[in-house]
Amino acid sequence: MPSPDPATLVQDGRVHRSVYTDPAIFALEMERIYHRAWVYVGHDSQVPDPGDFVTLMIGGQPVVMARHSDGQVHVIYNRCGHRGARVCVENQGHADIFRCAYHGWTFNTDGTLNAVSMPRGYGESFDTGNPNLGMGQLPRVENYRGFVFASLAADGPDLATHLGIARASIDELVDKAPGGAVDLSGGVHKYLYRGNWKLQMENTVDMYHVPFSHESTLRRDGRQFSRRRGDDSGSTLTTTGAAAERWEQRVAWASAETGHTYTGHQPAAEQKHNHDPVYQEYVASLTAIHGAEKTQEILNPKRHNTWYFPNMSLQALNPHVRVIRPIAVDRTEVWVYPVKFRGAPEAMNADIIKQLNLTHAAASLIQTDDLENFTRVQNGVGADNFEWVLFARGLDTDLPDNQEGLVNKGTVELPQRAQYAAWARYMAAPS
Ligand code: FES
Ligand SMILES: [Fe+2]
Repeated sequence: MPSPDPATLVQDGRVHRSVYTDPAIFALEMERIYHRAWVYVGHDSQVPDPGDFVTLMIGGQPVVMARHSDGQVHVIYNRCGHRGARVCVENQGHADIFRCAYHGWTFNTDGTLNAVSMPRGYGESFDTGNPNLGMGQLPRVENYRGFVFASLAADGPDLATHLGIARASIDELVDKAPGGAVDLSGGVHKYLYRGNWKLQMENTVDMYHVPFSHESTLRRDGRQFSRRRGDDSGSTLTTTGAAAERWEQRVAWASAETGHTYTGHQPAAEQKHNHDPVYQEYVASLTAIHGAEKTQEILNPKRHNTWYFPNMSLQALNPHVRVIRPIAVDRTEVWVYPVKFRGAPEAMNADIIKQLNLTHAAASLIQTDDLENFTRVQNGVGADNFEWVLFARGLDTDLPDNQEGLVNKGTVELPQRAQYAAWARYMAAPS
């Protein structure tokens, strides 16, 4: 059966179920989204010294992010210029030069050819200065405050334009570091779920599911367990009463152009009653740098989860970076990195790592609920009497925000509508 035209799969408030199940749609997503958009690669703190590298896939392409001897972070194809073998096989490591295991060609950490092995075997017509013999740089790479993005397309908007309003969520996160930078070298949680990658995309900015999916994390009075050092409990998550009203007042913002979206901060994010001595030490170090007023602004973030289309999210409350790695139409890996704040007390950074074990590890109290949801949706959308997946909540009340996006409140499905509007825009245009 031929695949449906992607332009017909996204309609007002609904998306055709084949976007989760059709392998041809998945292949087209790799080509038209992952080979074109700015894709999040990693953070420069993962490769602190020259020769440090990490490997990953972008849209099915093997790549290496490496710090070169000039101090610059490069993103290069992970394939040999000789016969195409993958050069770096470790997830991360350190190397002065990359050496292909097959016939021993070597490459510099910026991807240029270092040497061919046994060069006497090549004739005069063979030009070792030919740049095509290197591993090859990705067409575009940019770094915003340590966050490295790359694009497999030579043309397109620059990174700042692509990030737009969503860029300020990176600022909010990085400004929390007294040392002026965040550090993602504190390990990573990795897991695979049996579902489409867009299920995790939708879920990171879904405020509707929380009191239902995460009911088991609540006390009898509806309060969630504490997710941060010094808090005696988390947000109240009920479906009625004043707490529910506060939850429903949270902002939902989204750009239908870029697909980026964020949810307003959780009521629990405000830091007024935290008297923990380590936390107070942290506040004092921020205050010494920024003064009291700016420090309060930094400590009361406006945004909770921010989604960067197509593959990354940030969270403020349990600070982490979540990266989606699509494997197949019904297989996805999620990699979750705790965010440490440079210049913050070591005990506070250790606590962030510990708390993330509790909330977003493979066996945690929150993310496991959602992984179960993803598997259930993947199973359920296979039912033949079901065509359209609904994202209609709040459809009639989305409003332009006079900048570059749309705003609404609380539990609406505006974030998902915007994600699929951007999806449809990428998918409609041929390369
Ligand atoms: S494939 Fe790499 S040296 Fe031959
Ligand atoms: Fe959730």
